[in-house]
Amino acid sequence: MPAAIGLDDVVAAETVLSHVDGEAGRLVVRGHDIETLVGHVPFEQATALLWDGLIDLPAEGLARALGAARLEAYDRLAPLVPATRALAPVPAMRFLLAGLPTMEAPVAVRLLAAAGVAAAFAIAGKAVRPDPSLGHAADLLRMIRGRPVAAAEAAALDAYLVTILDHGLNASTFAARVVASTAAGPAAALIAGLCALEGPLHGGAPGPVLDMLDAVGLPENAPAWVAAELDAGRRLMGFGHRIYRVRDPRADVLKAALARLGGRSARLTLAEAVEAAALAALERRKAGRRLDTNVEFYTALLLDALGVPRAGFTALFAAGRTAGWLAHVREQEARGRIIRPQSRYVGPLPAVAA
Ligand code: ACO
Repeated sequence: MPAAIGLDDVVAAETVLSHVDGEAGRLVVRGHDIETLVGHVPFEQATALLWDGLIDLPAEGLARALGAARLEAYDRLAPLVPATRALAPVPAMRFLLAGLPTMEAPVAVRLLAAAGVAAAFAIAGKAVRPDPSLGHAADLLRMIRGRPVAAAEAAALDAYLVTILDHGLNASTFAARVVASTAAGPAAALIAGLCALEGPLHGGAPGPVLDMLDAVGLPENAPAWVAAELDAGRRLMGFGHRIYRVRDPRADVLKAALARLGGRSARLTLAEAVEAAALAALERRKAGRRLDTNVEFYTALLLDALGVPRAGFTALFAAGRTAGWLAHVREQEARGRIIRPQSRYVGPLPAVAA
């Protein structure tokens, strides 16, 4: 299959937002290495940095504006929650966001708040009133768990949200930019991003990472379990990446956030054994491809340690990545040119009349 079928190495946008250096294992967000942001600046400040010059920042500061917008989102979304009861978190989130009325300015702040509130409602299965005095991460975790959260837990979720803020032209960001390029508007582009994120080859992987750890059970089972999966032709969730040829730097940033949360769990010991077995097996079987640990492996461990149910991991990913999608949408809109590639027709042609 020609590489262009997966758009490998095709440059489809210019961006000032983030740069993924796959050979060096480096992620730069608005001129800053990701390691210098995570754990050092809160989600609101990282978002303001990302949006700078593209999206107007509220005079009262993003943290205050987001708090107020979460309350507004509660009023708009809470009546819709009963209709989501039979839905898994991402479809529930899609439903809630699709039901939003047309928004007045500031649209980006309102959409970012709504994405967080919709994710929390979709994961918790109920509407909990936001607390605008809290930081965004602390409030989302409180709404998900239905009780106050410790400062260390809020800090860990904040670190996660900053880690996944933006990541070049990944599949969901590309989907959002394609929709933005048609001038459909940021709400439509956000939902497109969410739909693209859902699949297990992209943001749907961390729940299955936990399923994998459960299936392995004990550290000593890891090599045989991994071998059986690969023999069966299945992919190991949390490994491999289109761009990174070395370890995804976000894996280590999240592993450090997990360590800051404290307490070494049996699950972490198991995870390290599975990671070692997976890397050894992938190296042996896919020599030259350089498959390594990606962000989703430690996402699973961190969000699990925070008491987020595994079915909700992708919805929470979307809540954070919305900040990146919205910035890309603005950048794409400013470009003012529709994204419209070609396909190569390989089907039959009509018979030529004699
Ligand atoms: N486990 C086993 N084999 C793998 C894995 C994996 N995790 N990843 C890639 N491979 C294999 C492929 O099957 C392929 O083998 P083949 O050449 O014999 O057919 C070979 O390695 C090359 O891989 P590609 O398909 O070229 O990798 P691609 O860049 O298309 O896919 C992807 C990247 C989708 C992330 C892939 O590595 C994968 O499926 N990983 C597991 C799911 C996952 O962790 N997703 C989260 C990604 S991070 C994110 O999006 C936030």
